[in-house]
Amino acid sequence: MQVKIENLSYSYGSKKLKVKAVNDICLEIKEGEFFGVVGHTGSGKSTLIQHLNGLIKVQKDSGKVIVGEYDLTDKKCDFKGLRAKVGMVFQYPEYQLFAETVFEDVKFGLKNFYPNLTEKEMEERIKKAVETVGLDYEKIKEKSPFELSGGQKRRVAIAGVIVSRPEVLVLDEPVAGLDPTGKREFVSLLHALHNDFVKTIIIVSHDMNLIAENCDRVAVLNKGNLVKVGTPKEVFMDKVKVEEWGLELPSTAYLTEKLREKGIEIDSDLTIKGFIDGYIRAKGGEK
Ligand SMILES: Nc1ncnc2c1ncn2[C@@H]1O[C@H](COP(=O)(O)OP(=O)(O)OP(=O)(O)O)[C@@H](O)[C@H]1O
Ligand SMILES: [Mg+2]
Repeated sequence: MQVKIENLSYSYGSKKLKVKAVNDICLEIKEGEFFGVVGHTGSGKSTLIQHLNGLIKVQKDSGKVIVGEYDLTDKKCDFKGLRAKVGMVFQYPEYQLFAETVFEDVKFGLKNFYPNLTEKEMEERIKKAVETVGLDYEKIKEKSPFELSGGQKRRVAIAGVIVSRPEVLVLDEPVAGLDPTGKREFVSLLHALHNDFVKTIIIVSHDMNLIAENCDRVAVLNKGNLVKVGTPKEVFMDKVKVEEWGLELPSTAYLTEKLREKGIEIDSDLTIKGFIDGYIRAKGGEK
């Protein structure tokens, strides 16, 4: 499913006290992309991405959002069908857990979208989703979500989203609050999902290292405006602009900049591996 956003604007509040959160954004995200959305706090990231499953409705005369065959501006749009296809994981998703057991919690997401599945079909799907997020199904299914660790809870919450087999998975700051190991494990989970389960991943993050290391392309929002879309290299190699947008440089871009000051030019995609290979090339090595 391709995501197509055309001239999208969105304002909060009433006529008197209007806050324009998103301003005239045009953006296309291709099927299969691992796509990043970055921007300073309050730049409009959450507002933008919550349009993608209709959680925030497109306002009158404020542009268009089309996801696959769903035109979200169409009055007859099947939002339930859309939400089964576009999964949304909010920041601190563990706070959304509520059922008495992990099984029931994950089942809730599935039953909501596919009430006609048999109990057996449901259990198969729940098992697959729980195992896909790296948890031991037999051990965990009867546990209360509240007895689990923070990282486990987050995995259960994600199982509850992927159980409906969305094609597009949207995650709003999914690594916030995780320790370095938790973060690393979570990123590998996203890649595992991207290979096997969901086609497109759209991730909002304040962590520029994570974005540079993992995303095919990145969109930068600044005060509600889309100011840049490109590969991490295209986005982060302009240090002056990155500062102007209120963002940090990923470490690889920072080091590239520092080495340039010393006369060493490194050409890389800004992943760590790309940077090291670029460094070896610059020093006249093999790679
Ligand atoms: N429910 C709301 N009511 C009124 N204004 C809001 C509401 N939600 C967001 N805003 C405003 O809209 C703008 C964009 O907010 P949004 O939450 O989309 O930004 P963000 O980029 O996700 O920020 P953060 O990085 O802090 O999560 C901000 O000015 C914010 O204050
Ligand atoms: Mg936000």
